[in-house]
Amino acid sequence: MSAILTARELRKRYRGVTAVDGLNLDIEEGSCLGLLGPNGAGKSTTIEMLEGLLQPSSGEIRFRGRPLDQHYRERVGIQFQNTALQDFLTVRENLQFFAALYKRRRSLDELIAGCHLEEYLDRDHRRLSGGQRQRMLLAIALINDPDLVFLDEPTTGLDPQARRNFWELVQDVRRRGKTVLLTTHYMDEAYELSDDIAIMDRGRIVARGSPQQLLSEHFSDSVLELPAAEIKGREQELSAVTRGDAAEILSADVNKTVQKLLAAGVSLAQLKIRPRTLEDLFISLTGRELRA
Ligand SMILES: Nc1ncnc2c1ncn2[C@@H]1O[C@H](COP(=O)(O)OP(=O)(O)O)[C@@H](O)[C@H]1O
Ligand SMILES: [Mg+2]
Repeated sequence: MSAILTARELRKRYRGVTAVDGLNLDIEEGSCLGLLGPNGAGKSTTIEMLEGLLQPSSGEIRFRGRPLDQHYRERVGIQFQNTALQDFLTVRENLQFFAALYKRRRSLDELIAGCHLEEYLDRDHRRLSGGQRQRMLLAIALINDPDLVFLDEPTTGLDPQARRNFWELVQDVRRRGKTVLLTTHYMDEAYELSDDIAIMDRGRIVARGSPQQLLSEHFSDSVLELPAAEIKGREQELSAVTRGDAAEILSADVNKTVQKLLAAGVSLAQLKIRPRTLEDLFISLTGRELRA
């Protein structure tokens, strides 16, 4: 496998804030890399530098071995936020406006069908629902048939059904052999869409690998979950951590832990056992929770 994009020692400093702090990243051709982190981790700053839109304070970015140039602009697709759009334009006019910027182009009819935009073509883009708007912005990102597609928190604020619909479209993009870089603060989204995950915190990558790799490298143990009321007052004795209504116990030996709970007279009627998740991994790496 070869890297489509590489970043070396990438830094971005704003007055008093280091948003990105010495980032090294290789993105494989044809992969979907999920850049995962909480608000303020530096995801947008990173993606904007990789897109070629924001000048790094220092460091180097290469696309297929070459510095970012005009050729790069033709080969990448960027899902912009609303601010890049003209007022009073319909969905169709927006697509035409962006299509005119590129020499290489996908057929608009194909994109409109692929992103399910037929019904909204003549609507002012400001009157779209959140999910419809994201689909239009994705169609715009795909207009030049890019090799590398950037999606910055594409489903933040969407309802669960609209998020799932959007994931389907991203899977279609992947099936066309495109490379995708996605930022998100949703664990389930990174898990569903990415075959490669970089966890980011305070401007740095703190872990990298496939979802399964990350989990198996960092954890071999399971989580036992009980209603917090069952454990109340005995958290320390039973090595339990309370999160809302649930008490969680980490265990490398489930049989032994269950015996200990039984011996302590804890009812196991509502016991749940699960492997540790990416959410647990994030908390253990950074000491912080991902805010959804
Ligand atoms: N234009 C800017 N000027 C000053 N500080 C900024 C600017 N953009 C981002 N930052 C700061 O850089 C850090 C990373 O921000 P950002 O890349 O937007 O994170 P994320 O996308 O992960 O939420 C934050 O502390 C943010 O306040
Ligand atoms: Mg952001």
